[in-house]
Amino acid sequence: MSTHIEAKPGEYAETVLLPGDPLRAKYIAETFLEDVKQVNRVRNAFGYTGTYKGHRISVQGSGMGIPSMSIYINELVREYGVKTIIRVGSCGGMAPDVHVRDVLLASGSTTDSAVTANTFGPGIHYAPLADFKLLDSAYHVAKDLDINVKVGDIFAADRFYNDEIDMQKLADYGILGTEMESAGLYLLGAKLHFKALSVLTVSDLIFGDEKATAEERERTFNDMIKISLETAIQ
Ligand code: ADE
Repeated sequence: MSTHIEAKPGEYAETVLLPGDPLRAKYIAETFLEDVKQVNRVRNAFGYTGTYKGHRISVQGSGMGIPSMSIYINELVREYGVKTIIRVGSCGGMAPDVHVRDVLLASGSTTDSAVTANTFGPGIHYAPLADFKLLDSAYHVAKDLDINVKVGDIFAADRFYNDEIDMQKLADYGILGTEMESAGLYLLGAKLHFKALSVLTVSDLIFGDEKATAEERERTFNDMIKISLETAIQ
């Protein structure tokens, strides 16, 4: 066990899908995996290991934001030998051609979080990037599944409620959407030498009030998980 995870050594697969919401981890494990075993219950940050098309895969809830997520990533990689982490989450759409229910692949992640500045000190504004092979695989998997995806920069905000940031300016500079984790995931991927990718569904719009029905949201969520699982086994 590690500080926040009770699993025994070897109970996580080398590849982990990482939703923020632990109940989404449960849903993914129960809906998409076979021979599932729950490996973590600590703080209700549910973790599961099972198989997908014969390949061992784990799913772990990370909580919201970089601070919570980085606890689970550090322990998964340092204590359980995890080599690939695919975040599966939601985001707010920002670009004019991004709509509710779109699936986005974060090729990079701009942030106002202090994690990059704390790592490199003043003057260096590190650009956290996805693992290119994972990104390339996910893009082609989505094409093969006939699921439309958009690829680009995602703004990982330090705060959900945030009046200070000029979101329009970020959109003008090509940011596709906003969530609260991807920059931290990519920074840790570079630091700890694991492969990282964020696959996101658009749940809301920053500059509009387009809404999806519950059924549409579920279908898009399932599309995102299919892309991520097929990418995981490439
Ligand atoms: N996750 C989903 N929608 C979001 C938003 N609007 N801001 C930050 N994180 C999000």
